[in-house]
Amino acid sequence: MTIDSNQLQQARNLLQQCHHSAVFSGAGLSAESGIFTFRDPDPNSLWNRFDPTELASRSGFLDNPQRVIEWYAWRRKNLSTAQPNAGHLCLAQQPALVQITQNVDNLLERAGVSNEQIYHLHGEINRDRCDAECGYSEEIDLSHPPGLRECPACKNSYMRPAVVWFGEALPSQIWQQSEQLCRRVECLIVVGTSAMVYPAAGLISLTQESSGKIIVINKEDSPASDLADFNLRGPSGELLPALF
Ligand code: OAD
Repeated sequence: MTIDSNQLQQARNLLQQCHHSAVFSGAGLSAESGIFTFRDPDPNSLWNRFDPTELASRSGFLDNPQRVIEWYAWRRKNLSTAQPNAGHLCLAQQPALVQITQNVDNLLERAGVSNEQIYHLHGEINRDRCDAECGYSEEIDLSHPPGLRECPACKNSYMRPAVVWFGEALPSQIWQQSEQLCRRVECLIVVGTSAMVYPAAGLISLTQESSGKIIVINKEDSPASDLADFNLRGPSGELLPALF
């Protein structure tokens, strides 16, 4: 894939002039680490192979908790052997940039981004929590993911991945912080997202409506391309190091 060097240079110039920027990322950021995206044309994309209403909704979990936990165990094992790619490593070299991410993986953390610098809008797959929301939550071992089990604290419900499923609310504090940040930044770098899942995708419009600039990095066009001041077409593992 040829990278448009003119667009890239202009985006670089913009970034150098901006004192306050942030990143908004999606599954494409982790694709070069071997983590499956959700809705690429690629036949391996998760929603091309699996039904999100069965596997990523609370009703699907209540219907067949064993099926959901087994699917997450497969994804967790896959993540346990993945490594941060050049895109994650590049972002870890930018300590001033907050990373707003839809990704539930921990590859930004493993690349060296501090926990405080990452806003996980859709939760974290390396944690479990009580489905009855008794408040109990714990980190799990990705390489030995737990099977279906009851909450050890309240013994009243199952444990489930601490991720946001379709139809569930985003973590309120993280969401509010993300909204505030996207209204304030001079530039939002949108990386590897189809920008189709709301409310997360709405963050891009918030920056645009506040007169912030938008740089989009993606292998394909997406609804975010229409909002972009600069569209950088190509893999994030190449484009992020080139941009910074
Ligand atoms: P998607 O799978 O919807 O989109 C991935 C995007 O990354 C696509 O636009 C691809 O073109 C792009 N892409 C793929 N490989 C890339 C690469 N190497 N470099 C740059 N871009 C690349 O993933 P998300 O937008 O993250 O939510 O999906 C949003 C949410 O939908 C997810 O958080 C998840 C999913 O259902 C829940 O499960 C609630």
